[in-house]
Amino acid sequence: MSETPLWDAVERFRKKKRSAFHMPGHKYNPPYDMGVLFDHDITEVEGVDSLYHAAGPILKTEKNYARLYGSRASFLSAGGSTLCIQAMLALVAPRGKKVILSRMVHSSAVAAMALLGLEPHWIWPEVAQTPEEGLPGMALPITIRQISAALNECPDAAAVYLTSPDYMGQTEPIPAIAQLCKAAGVPLLVDNAHGAHLPFLAGWEHPIRQGADMCCDSLHKTLPVLTGAAMLHVANPDFVPCARQAMALFGSTSPSYPIMLSADLAFPYLKHSYAQEAAPVAAELNRLRRELKNQGFALAKTEPMRITLEFRSLGYDDAEFGHWLRSHKVEPEFLEGGVCVLLASPRSTLKDIANLETALRQLPRLEPRKPLTFLPQPPPVRLTMRQAALAPRAVLPLGEKLVGRIAALPVSACPPGIPLVVPGEEITPGLLLHLKKSGVKNVCVVQ
Ligand SMILES: Cc1ncc(COP(=O)(O)O)c(C=O)c1O
Repeated sequence: MSETPLWDAVERFRKKKRSAFHMPGHKYNPPYDMGVLFDHDITEVEGVDSLYHAAGPILKTEKNYARLYGSRASFLSAGGSTLCIQAMLALVAPRGKKVILSRMVHSSAVAAMALLGLEPHWIWPEVAQTPEEGLPGMALPITIRQISAALNECPDAAAVYLTSPDYMGQTEPIPAIAQLCKAAGVPLLVDNAHGAHLPFLAGWEHPIRQGADMCCDSLHKTLPVLTGAAMLHVANPDFVPCARQAMALFGSTSPSYPIMLSADLAFPYLKHSYAQEAAPVAAELNRLRRELKNQGFALAKTEPMRITLEFRSLGYDDAEFGHWLRSHKVEPEFLEGGVCVLLASPRSTLKDIANLETALRQLPRLEPRKPLTFLPQPPPVRLTMRQAALAPRAVLPLGEKLVGRIAALPVSACPPGIPLVVPGEEITPGLLLHLKKSGVKNVCVVQ
């Protein structure tokens, strides 16, 4: 067996030289010399500041980002949006027990809520029925009407928590939702992990400028920085004083300088060049979307840098469609359940987009397959998330014995990291089927 199995695997993958329609946003083509970052792997020594006591250059980097995104204060994370989400939820936890959120939430929020003793007031999304609404069978963004109803049912909520853009690239009408939340006196938190690039695209805006109280941006998902770089942006002055300590509550005391430096080095590019470079790529993707629609592809309504399409109606299952793309040197971000997410950035080359276009244009049409539905029915809740997550537990293999048991920890397929079951929920026969289809091997249940 190799003594460097991970290195070998990444080397093998890199040698395939596929066009990267997946994260990170640098696409191996960053606008600065990324190699130098590894010579700068230091720790919090004299003169280079300290992340959770930032008073020097780290604070200045954060202030640059705060000015760029229009926040009152921004906080650097070398632990992705996951750390920022943990911090946002810790900051609202003293305000109440319940958080209003869509069930199509990233598992990092569920895990943080379970640890913090916050309970979900779930909004189960509606599913698209017609191509005008979205990809048939796919969960839609939650609506203003649903949020308004949830605020009425749960007026003492600690926060409303939105995911926009979601993993598929669908977005929420944040300005209208922010107004609703302000009127109700409930802070609006936005998981903008997939939207750090939006303010640089014509006609798009950042959640902070749209009225959110706080949001997280995974810089690494869409911008040219190292994986792990993210920002917590705070607009509401009530949350600024404790924000850094809230990040420290969950973060490593050894944050990676290469990750933080990559955010610092990307800043001039974001400020001066990103918008200019993004415009032709967005135009090219728009043209491609129009062409794909003409060729019979069903596409989700997404933000400009994503193409999310359905392929079962063209006759392919996941393995077949994945094989077709990869044999045309295209690596997607996500491919499951008949849906494929392709994520471009201004660092994608026109050759990458041409590769993708050729792959999709040449796809032979086969006998349509039945669409798959994504959303299970709401299962019975037997314990709070915290009770279940902290209870004595056992790991059971997937099988009939799971039916009737209570999940102790969230179960999700990653990507997209959306929990199929959360702590405290009972596993029903329908849910078991869903877990099987998602390739889950075992579940941690309450003993
Ligand atoms: C919607 C969403 N939120 C949050 C996260 C976590 O972000 P990070 O990987 O930067 O920690 C992800 C990760 O994929 C995500 O898809």
